[in-house]
Amino acid sequence: MITILGAGSIGVSFAAVFSDIGAKVCLADPDAERRGTAPHSLARQAEAIKDAGLWRGGAGSVEVVDDPGKALQGSDLVIECGPENLEIKRAIFADLLARTGSETVLATASSAITISGILPDPSQQERCLVAHPVNPPSILRVIELVPAPGTDQEATAKAARLFQSAGFETVHLGHEIEGFVLNRLQSAVLREAYRLVDEGVTDVAGIEAIMRMGLGPRWALSGPFETVELNTPGGIKAHAARMGPAYKRIGEARGETVDWNEDLVANVDAQRRKVLPLGALDRAGDMAFARCRSARCSARSADAGLTMQ
Ligand SMILES: NC(=O)c1ccc[n+]([C@@H]2O[C@H](COP(=O)([O-])OP(=O)(O)OC[C@H]3O[C@@H](n4cnc5c(N)ncnc54)[C@H](O)[C@@H]3O)[C@@H](O)[C@H]2O)c1
Repeated sequence: MITILGAGSIGVSFAAVFSDIGAKVCLADPDAERRGTAPHSLARQAEAIKDAGLWRGGAGSVEVVDDPGKALQGSDLVIECGPENLEIKRAIFADLLARTGSETVLATASSAITISGILPDPSQQERCLVAHPVNPPSILRVIELVPAPGTDQEATAKAARLFQSAGFETVHLGHEIEGFVLNRLQSAVLREAYRLVDEGVTDVAGIEAIMRMGLGPRWALSGPFETVELNTPGGIKAHAARMGPAYKRIGEARGETVDWNEDLVANVDAQRRKVLPLGALDRAGDMAFARCRSARCSARSADAGLTMQ
């Protein structure tokens, strides 16, 4: 049993995913209007899951209620998807701690509020963590799991197992940090995009074109480390030696500290070598871009109703 608090876009999306894998889902929202639109929103999410080729067709169910009541006691996982408001989340978690047993993991989908912010006392954090999705989680199946200092490892492991069983790739953060990982990466790009527009280097259309036609297609298949490896003979170490000094100047000119020291680069390289041997890089690069190009063509032709030659 999975209980989801909040029938907004995130709560409904999670409910559609978990019912599709066969789980019993209790979806609670105090707002009667939200409860009224939930069945239609769930049906739309189910269509989107099918369109994305992720549909499993499990015989799950979603019960839409104003209060989860007894469902809370039998729940393996509660996902709090209420408004992004500290006081509301504090009230919800105080209630959840009182109404659930030690076997229930309590997660918040919060975009920026940490468990330490909601429950400052580490002794209350044991079975609580952030499970930050990417909207819409029905389609974008990656989730950041962020423990507080008092979160039990077993609670994080149980949450990870449940999200993985629903097809999510889980990314475990070592500790709480503002913005988690996704928003820190996105903010780095946006900070520079704003500066470049502000300085008249390019306009908004220029930034959009570079991302849509250049970095975006690359990043659709690879993260920033893999992208530079696939683009630089010799991989991470060669890229850091070739581009590191320029990137350091760029960052420092913006007032940032840039320290790609030898140990750090060796650490990143060692982690990458576990994924892809150096000898496979050239071929992997060609294949990755070919797959990316082909995926973009299929998506565009589907959108436009065109047949690509
Ligand atoms: N929308 C996104 O892009 C996105 C992405 C990642 C994370 N998040 C986070 O997920 C959470 C939910 O986001 P959303 O966009 O679905 O929000 P939303 O505002 O659309 O929906 C929140 C829902 O919670 C309900 N609610 C209010 N008080 C409640 C209570 N006490 N118990 C249960 N439900 C209650 C509201 O009636 C509303 O339907 C937020 O913390 C948000 O920051 C959102």
